[in-house]
Amino acid sequence: MTKSEITQVAVVGTGVIGASWTAYFLAQGLDVVATDPAQGAEDHLRADVARHWRSLEAMGLAPGASLDKLSFTSDLEAAVRNAQFIQENGPERLDIKADLFRRLDAAAPSDVVVASSSSGLLISQVQTACRHPERIVLGHPFNPPHLIPLVEVVGGVGTAPEAIATALKFYAAIGKRPIHLRKEVAGHVANRLQAALWREAFHLVDLGVATVSDIDTAIAHGPGLRWALLGPFLNLHLSGGRGGIDHVLNHLGPAIESWWRDLGDPSLTPELRHKVSDGVREMLAGRSAEGMETQRDALLRDLLRAKSGSPDLP
Ligand SMILES: NC(=O)c1ccc[n+]([C@@H]2O[C@H](COP(=O)([O-])OP(=O)(O)OC[C@H]3O[C@@H](n4cnc5c(N)ncnc54)[C@H](O)[C@@H]3O)[C@@H](O)[C@H]2O)c1
Repeated sequence: MTKSEITQVAVVGTGVIGASWTAYFLAQGLDVVATDPAQGAEDHLRADVARHWRSLEAMGLAPGASLDKLSFTSDLEAAVRNAQFIQENGPERLDIKADLFRRLDAAAPSDVVVASSSSGLLISQVQTACRHPERIVLGHPFNPPHLIPLVEVVGGVGTAPEAIATALKFYAAIGKRPIHLRKEVAGHVANRLQAALWREAFHLVDLGVATVSDIDTAIAHGPGLRWALLGPFLNLHLSGGRGGIDHVLNHLGPAIESWWRDLGDPSLTPELRHKVSDGVREMLAGRSAEGMETQRDALLRDLLRAKSGSPDLP
């Protein structure tokens, strides 16, 4: 099903991620039926969507986009009965997810793709109780999904290639940058890459090599600037001058391998936790996390707009 064929999406679970997806789907001109069993969920959702809407308006809404296209029901089965694509965002617990997928699978039309936002669970385990596991995929967004384009798509053992193709096509058609992971792996790709960086960052704080603030400076005012534009491999290629990636691998490869062997493997001891949380509070210097989030998201919108002017960048 292409974007033009998919006009109605069900959003299941409307916490942090579900509310952000809801706002994004609406901004793309889609009809959204949202569901969540929590008390007050509809009020929270509408407030969160209204907050995200300001960002999305600033980025540009698709024709037909309207907050009036959002409806809410606490009845899960009713929410998905007429859906053409389902985005699941329930709690990150295998027992809850597996049961939720069993119910979604029983209630939704059998040819509709059901995508889970799960950050770390394997879709093969989530789809075990489904009668139609072939249409169950992972569609993992990056927080906040209404701004960050990446969506990681992967199937489980029971997923059909057609469902993966449909999900990739749908996300691309609504302006996302989906990638297809060829194998399931805990934490998928982007979170594993972040975890690798956090491991060394915590290790360096533990060793006393640099302060928490200096490590954040090293990334936010150093390689992080390039990483927002090109990934680690193309940046490495550009480090090789005329010889590109082949030169840099010959030239710096042995040094990089020696750093790999020296990288840390820290544990989150109480002392290390304190060091890091004290360091973060020092950096905040009394500023609120909310204020910083608003400032970050405004810059993120500027960056996304600037990047959209260079569509030939990979
Ligand atoms: N927070 C992140 O940064 C992030 C990023 C990407 C993906 N994810 C994934 O998204 C999913 C949701 O995470 P979150 O951070 O939004 O959590 P959250 O706790 O904010 O939201 C979970 C929501 O699920 C609802 N819920 C509980 N039982 C339900 C049921 N049976 N049916 C429908 N809804 C139900 C809860 O009421 C709650 O509103 C998780 O799988 C998580 O791994 C989170």
